[in-house]
Amino acid sequence: MRLILLGPPGAGKGTQAKKLVAKYSVPQISTGDILREAVKNRTPMGLKAKAYMDKGELVTDDIVVGIIRDRLQESDCAKGYILDGFPRTVPQADALKTALHEMGQSIDRVVSIVVANDELIQRLTGRRTCKECGAGFHILYKKPKAEGICDQCGGPLIQRDDDQEATIQNRLTVYNQQTEPLIAYYRKDGALKEVEGTGSIDEIFAHICAVIENHG
Ligand code: AP5
Repeated sequence: MRLILLGPPGAGKGTQAKKLVAKYSVPQISTGDILREAVKNRTPMGLKAKAYMDKGELVTDDIVVGIIRDRLQESDCAKGYILDGFPRTVPQADALKTALHEMGQSIDRVVSIVVANDELIQRLTGRRTCKECGAGFHILYKKPKAEGICDQCGGPLIQRDDDQEATIQNRLTVYNQQTEPLIAYYRKDGALKEVEGTGSIDEIFAHICAVIENHG
């Protein structure tokens, strides 16, 4: 299964991708996670990316396309993958098409998760992530058992640098201008399915699985 999860910041791409990994045994490839790891390790790519990420802007296409080209060659991608946060621009989508063509592959399904802006802002301002294992929580919607502590590994929960309200607003504007055109792009390809992203995480997951298995 080769799947793209499309949707604005806070739509639940990461949350749903982790559940899909458990069900379908294919890796989640999140360009955001890969970039944050590079920032944490202060690699040359991470240092370049940080300036864009802190402002809520997109990192340049050449950097993220390079990341994805390398990642898709790894052996765990042989049976498929879930692309989370890539592509995000039309040039990235074109580059993905070219790379997949060279590998004799194509995308099976593009799932676009639809959520209204006010809900997105609530989700992102309340998001907390485990510093150690990366597990995701929300101060209202997915509370950890003990405040500020990860249920899974006991690590500290932190707020992402780009989850400040002013940066969130810019990320939403950037999404509308640069990423939303991909909905029409993939609709034209016949691969797109839109899924309502409001409701419980499990309900949305069931809907996404139905769409993947062609009965949604
Ligand atoms: P990235 O990490 O990809 O961030 P994003 O797209 O902004 O998406 P998020 O991770 O914020 O949201 P999500 O949809 O995964 O939501 P989540 O599941 O966490 O990118 C970060 C930055 O990296 C970019 O701004 C850019 O600079 C750079 N970048 C990355 N990829 C790039 C690319 N391809 N090109 C260029 N630059 C790139 O959920 C959010 C919260 O809501 C959580 O707290 C969760 O618990 C909660 N939640 C989830 N579902 C529900 C629900 N149904 N009900 C209630 N709460 C829910």
